[in-house]
Amino acid sequence: MALRRPLAAVCLLLLLVPCCLGTPQYGNGFYYHDMSNGQGNEEIFYNGVHLHVESQQPLVSATRGSSVTLPCHYRYEPELSAPRRTRINYGGFRGRVRLRRSTPGDMSLVIKELRLNDTGRYRCEVIDGVVFPYYSQHGRYHYNFLGAQAACEEQDATLATFEQLFTAWEEGLDWCNAGWLADGTVQYPITTPREGCGGVALGAGLRSYGHRHRLLHRYDAFCFAASLKGTVYFLKHPSNLSFTEAGQACKFDGGHIATVGQIYAGWRLTGLDRCDAGWLADGSVRYPITKARPNCGPGEPGVRSFGFPAHDQKYGVYCYRST
Ligand SMILES: *[C@@H]1O[C@H](CO)[C@@H](O)[C@H](O)[C@H]1NC(C)=O
Ligand SMILES: *[C@@H]1O[C@H](CO)[C@@H](O)[C@H](O)[C@H]1NC(C)=O
Repeated sequence: MALRRPLAAVCLLLLLVPCCLGTPQYGNGFYYHDMSNGQGNEEIFYNGVHLHVESQQPLVSATRGSSVTLPCHYRYEPELSAPRRTRINYGGFRGRVRLRRSTPGDMSLVIKELRLNDTGRYRCEVIDGVVFPYYSQHGRYHYNFLGAQAACEEQDATLATFEQLFTAWEEGLDWCNAGWLADGTVQYPITTPREGCGGVALGAGLRSYGHRHRLLHRYDAFCFAASLKGTVYFLKHPSNLSFTEAGQACKFDGGHIATVGQIYAGWRLTGLDRCDAGWLADGSVRYPITKARPNCGPGEPGVRSFGFPAHDQKYGVYCYRST
């Protein structure tokens, strides 16, 4: 993970985009140097939506005690219709930093009361997506690397990168089952150290098994789902449905049965909250809760899972329709 300095992590829609890397400069000033590709512009393709993150001013300096603006903008191509929630992780800069937000997509960071030790390099990350753990209906630790890749793709997602998992961990993801990441390493995120999850002697963090054999070793997967172009919704239907009926009902409604990636993206990025268990395309049954409440699972928000019930069991269904 790159520097964790004023981290403008914006949970918007797509990916983790390193944009503004710089070299530390020392002196009686403050510098911000964008080295990402010499021009300060990065772009990334994902699911047909194109996220641009731009940082136009490679080097910024100011005097001690004054304020400085670290420029960063993002935009989508094509423009997205659904509004996104924005979350910012200020870390140790809380109270001294704010987003400028002078225009839509302006993620420029204003730091005030500059200190000498603010000198350094910063980067602007725009994160548009959600990391979720995924395991097979055939059981835990079923996937080799290629299987994990395919499983995420079937869920309308990709294998998560280390940076994505790290950010998810910073935001509270705690998962005691190891999963493949895109770089071929196997890791898992722990926010509350405990026995059986690396033990209590280790602090909170990502537990890594390092690189594992891509064909021979088997684990779960950490997938990353990006923003949705359409909407995920719980289908209004007069009765509960078997798995087969659920798929048909979504088609009849003009969509298709939602994937796990889609329900996670709907939950995390658009605030989908529904205390009704519903079928998903992989044969699992889940429901998304953004405001935890009694009788809707644990005390934290999350996508609750009933695992993979028999296909003739009756539940609701989550559908996805493109807009
Ligand atoms: C930076 O300096 C301030 C005092 O000017 C100090 O309180 C703070 O802990 C220092 N931060 C780091 C990361 O060294
Ligand atoms: C579907 O089943 C759940 C319990 O499994 C029940 O609470 C709900 O009322 C049922 N919905 C319909 C439409 O029958």
